[in-house]
Amino acid sequence: MTQTTFTPRAFSGIKPSGGLTLGNYLGAIKRWVAMQDDGMETVYCVVDMHAITVWQDPAELRDATREVAAGMLASGIDPARSILFNQARVAEHAELAWIFNCVARVGWMNRMTQFKDKAGKNAEKASLGLYAYPALMAADILLYHGTHVPVGEDQKQHVELTRDIAAKFNHDYKVDFFPLTEPVIEGPGMRVMNLRDGSKKMSKSGDSDMERINMLDDADTIAKKFRKARTDPEPLPEAPADLADRPEAKNLIDIYAALADTGAEAVLAEFGGEGWGRFKPALADLAVDKLAPISTEMRRLLDDPAEIDRTLAAGADRARAIAAPVLARTYDIVGLLRD
Ligand code: TYM
Repeated sequence: MTQTTFTPRAFSGIKPSGGLTLGNYLGAIKRWVAMQDDGMETVYCVVDMHAITVWQDPAELRDATREVAAGMLASGIDPARSILFNQARVAEHAELAWIFNCVARVGWMNRMTQFKDKAGKNAEKASLGLYAYPALMAADILLYHGTHVPVGEDQKQHVELTRDIAAKFNHDYKVDFFPLTEPVIEGPGMRVMNLRDGSKKMSKSGDSDMERINMLDDADTIAKKFRKARTDPEPLPEAPADLADRPEAKNLIDIYAALADTGAEAVLAEFGGEGWGRFKPALADLAVDKLAPISTEMRRLLDDPAEIDRTLAAGADRARAIAAPVLARTYDIVGLLRD
């Protein structure tokens, strides 16, 4: 079989299962914006159908979908240069997901650590959708023949599963139809941790609001959260290697580095050897500096939800133009008859 060369195309998504966090921004959106200049097509999606794998109040889901879209736009995703839409508007995602449910193996799904974390001890009560979620994620990516997937570290296993699904599909049907997708996981913002417990990731749905920075937090709240962020009693070290067993310290330094577009080394060159008394206010100032213009723009956009809906609908039309022929060809390959 000859090896097909796939046009480079980035695909990524965010679940509207709550408001956006600093983790979403640094681990995903900030890099999506930069990728618009990397000379490849960029397709970004508010993955509302993923959100309902756990219960969502319908009115809150609608609001969160618009809030996530507003966050992407306010951060610099340009709907003229990128395709920006919400998943439910392009039914092909669900259709391809069904086919991938029939390609993926139960044993593969059983290894997904995120399902184990989310379902917890009560896995019997988890939705079937939560279990099948990685096959829908593979469909999201492969429907666009996505070659590059910029995500935070927590999504790495799902992108690897996407490769496994593509490889098995290609092998079983003796085609070279789906690309083997590369995760793009780079920089100090890949793993933003909880501000109260450096062993857990910062997430939209943690118990306490003090453990995360929300993109819509005001300046005082951001300053307070960083001031109260857990640290250890040692001063900041001189070198990144000395952060290895200091997760809370490492997290704050990585957040600073990611916001400042630099590395931990440069941050420690400035603050190493000092206590937290100067660093924490400097971090809060930097965060407010970077996030305030985004939250101001988000609020402005959210004042006109109909305009956000129009942007998402226009993006969905462009998405469908790519997705529909890929799905049609997939049905053909599989032997499903339709007009
Ligand atoms: P979600 O909605 O949990 O997160 C969206 C993006 O934000 C990144 N992220 C983080 N990065 C660094 N530190 C954190 N604390 C942090 N929290 C979240 C995530 O890695 C992700 O990149 N399954 C996906 C959504 C999805 C998707 C896709 C992604 C559905 N289909 C196709 C890529 C391609 C999810 O739940 O992300």
